[in-house]
Amino acid sequence: MENATSPARLVIVISGRGSNMLSIADACRDRTINATVDAVISNNPEAEGLQLAADRNIKTHVLDHRKFSSRYAFDRALGQLLQHLSPDWVVLAGFMRILSTELVNSWQGRMLNIHPSLLPRYPGLDTHARALAAGDRQHGASVHIVTPELDAGPIIAQSVVPVLPDDTKDSLAARVLAQEHELYVRAIGLCIQDGCHALQFTSVKRVET
Ligand code: GRF
Repeated sequence: MENATSPARLVIVISGRGSNMLSIADACRDRTINATVDAVISNNPEAEGLQLAADRNIKTHVLDHRKFSSRYAFDRALGQLLQHLSPDWVVLAGFMRILSTELVNSWQGRMLNIHPSLLPRYPGLDTHARALAAGDRQHGASVHIVTPELDAGPIIAQSVVPVLPDDTKDSLAARVLAQEHELYVRAIGLCIQDGCHALQFTSVKRVET
């Protein structure tokens, strides 16, 4: 594990755009957190985040899930790659696959995820539309430790944003995403410092109307 002088080694796992990955990589570069991004892994060869990582000289790996005969075979390959890279923390950032219990358990306590809702509300997909449909006045994002049950692990950090009267799911998603970028960096910084045990904070963000 990392100590006060050696940066924590992160591997970030993505499926798409990679904006959270980028904000974490920038925070490492700027020394906002004492960490390095050793590699970015994607299950999607078309993920935009792969190029963004490569542009920053971050090593990238593609494990195209469609090329594996089963979910189990994909998870086994991902598990082997993670073991080989051997990071201090596995950081899921927009990774759109459900991982097997076996793989999650082998990293339990050291695998993090960000989810665009105030968990335990709205695990799974379409969180912004669901928050709007429910008439919620607040929405946000959560960083949690990954456990085998989807989006149900211990929450480390949450950021709250208001839902505005004229919000669409896109405007709400954009407001939440801006907070995600700060939140994930902050949560990773706390995990690195304190080891993630019983770590919890809430940062309430207000947006001018
Ligand atoms: C984010 O909203 C994250 O919370 C969710 O997927 C989205 C990924 O966005 N899990 P990006 O790829 O980090 O831009």
